Amino acid sequence: MSVADDLIKKAQARDVRFGIIGLGYVGLPLAIELGHAGFKVLGYDVSQRVVDGLNAGHSHVKDISDAQLAAIREAGRFEATTDGSRLREADAISICVPTPLSKFKDPDVSYIVAATETIKRVLRPGQAIILESTTYPGTTREIMLPALESTGLKVGQDFFLAFSPERVDPGNPVYQTKNTPKVVGGITPDCLRVVCALYQPAIDVLVPVSTTEAVKLLENTFRSVNIGLVNEMAIVCDKLGVDVWEVIDAAATKPFGFMKFSPGPGLGGHCIPIDPHYLAWKMRGLNYKTRFIDLAGELNTEMPAFWVRKVADALNETGKAVRGSKVLVLGVAYKKDIEDLRESPALDIIRLLEGQGAQVAYHDPYVPKFEEDGHRFASTPLTAETLAGADCVIVVTDHSNLDYDLVRRHGRVIVDSRNALGRRGMK
Ligand SMILES: NC(=O)c1ccc[n+]([C@@H]2O[C@H](COP(=O)([O-])OP(=O)(O)OC[C@H]3O[C@@H](n4cnc5c(N)ncnc54)[C@H](O)[C@@H]3O)[C@@H](O)[C@H]2O)c1
Repeated sequence: MSVADDLIKKAQARDVRFGIIGLGYVGLPLAIELGHAGFKVLGYDVSQRVVDGLNAGHSHVKDISDAQLAAIREAGRFEATTDGSRLREADAISICVPTPLSKFKDPDVSYIVAATETIKRVLRPGQAIILESTTYPGTTREIMLPALESTGLKVGQDFFLAFSPERVDPGNPVYQTKNTPKVVGGITPDCLRVVCALYQPAIDVLVPVSTTEAVKLLENTFRSVNIGLVNEMAIVCDKLGVDVWEVIDAAATKPFGFMKFSPGPGLGGHCIPIDPHYLAWKMRGLNYKTRFIDLAGELNTEMPAFWVRKVADALNETGKAVRGSKVLVLGVAYKKDIEDLRESPALDIIRLLEGQGAQVAYHDPYVPKFEEDGHRFASTPLTAETLAGADCVIVVTDHSNLDYDLVRRHGRVIVDSRNALGRRGMK
C-alpha cells in the first residue's frame, strides 16, 4: 500500500492524530471540529497563556464555549502544548498562524516561515501538512515546499502538502467551521486525495481545486471592493443630501443582479483590510498594479476620518468645537457581537478625535478594557447619565445587545455610522 493510501485508510478509521499550529480564532474551532469528528488533536501554540488556559479548560475564543472544549478534552481528544517537538506525534498538521502586514503594508509571512521550520524539525514519512492561513498565491509551493523537501523527504511520496484556506466568520450564528464549504488544493494529486480524506469526516462539503490561495484572496477582495463602493456611495449621498441607507435598501429590492453591502466606519479584523494587500503585493512583483484593490483600500481607510468630520459637523451645529467636547464611542470591536479589536476602525476614530482635543470615552459590552499606544481605556457603563453627559455619541459597532432605545432617548447629538438606530431614530 502506498504512503498516501495508508494515511487515507487511517483517516477513514479516525486513526489519525492531528496537530494544529496556532490555537486562535481559526485554529481552535478547527481543533474542536476535528475532535468532534473522532480525531485526537494536539494543539501547539507559542503562547504559554493560550496553552495553559486551554489545558485548564478555558476557551479564549468567543465562538468556542468551555463546554465544547470540555467535551473533546473529556473524550481524551484534545491537548495543548508549547513543545513543538511533540508535533512528531501528529500524522496531519494544520497551520493556523497569523499573516499580518508589515509596517509598509507588505505581507509578513514570518509566522508561516516559523511554523514551517518547526515542522521541518519533526517531519517524517507519512505526514500531511496543510496551510490554513490566508496568504498570497505561491506561498505553499515557493516557501513551504522547498523548506520541507530540504529534509530529503519528497512531496506526494513521503509527505503530503496542501493549502486549505479557513473561512471562519467569528460571531456568525449560522456558518461555522463544519458547515462552511472548504476549498482544498494539494501540491500533487495524492496530496489532494490525502487532505480530502483527512478533512472529510469533520467538514460537510469539501471543494477540491488545483489552486486555492487565489480563491481565498478573491473572496476577501470581493468584500473589500464592494464595501469600498458602498462607502463611496455614503460620501456621494452625503454630498447630495440623500439618505444612503434608504438608497441601498431600495436598490436591494431588485431580485437579481444586486447584492447588498452596507457602508460603515471602515474595515476591521484580521482579514478584509489585510488580505487584498497580499494579492496587490504579489502582483507588484509581476509588474501589475491592482487598481480596484488599491482604490477600495484607500476609500475604506478614509472612512474613520469621514465619520470624525461628521462628529465635528454635528458638534458645530450645537455651537461646539471638537476640542474640549466629550464624545462617547459606542462599540469598539471591529464588527458586531464579537470582542475582536484587531484593525478596528474605532481605534482610528478615537485617535483622530483625541488628536483634535476631544475627551473620548467608550462603551462596548464585549470589550471591557483595552490598551492602545500606551493609553489604557475602560468601558463606561451605558446609562442615561453617561449618554446625556456626552456632547456627542458616535455609533461605531452595531452590537445587537446595545440598548439603542436608551441611546435614542438620552443621547444629545448622535452620529450613527452603521444606521443602527434606524432611519426613524436618527437625530
Ligand atoms: N480571524 C478570522 O476571522 C480569520 C478568518 C479566516 C482566515 N483567517 C486567517 O487565519 C490565520 C490565523 O488567524 P487567527 O485570527 O486565527 O489568528 P490568531 O492571532 O487568533 O491566532 C494565531 C495563534 O497562533 C499562535 N502562533 C503565532 N506564531 C506561532 C508559531 N510560530 N507557532 C505556533 N503558534 C503560533 C499565536 O500565539 C496565536 O495564538 C490568518 O492567516 C488569518 O488571515 C482568520
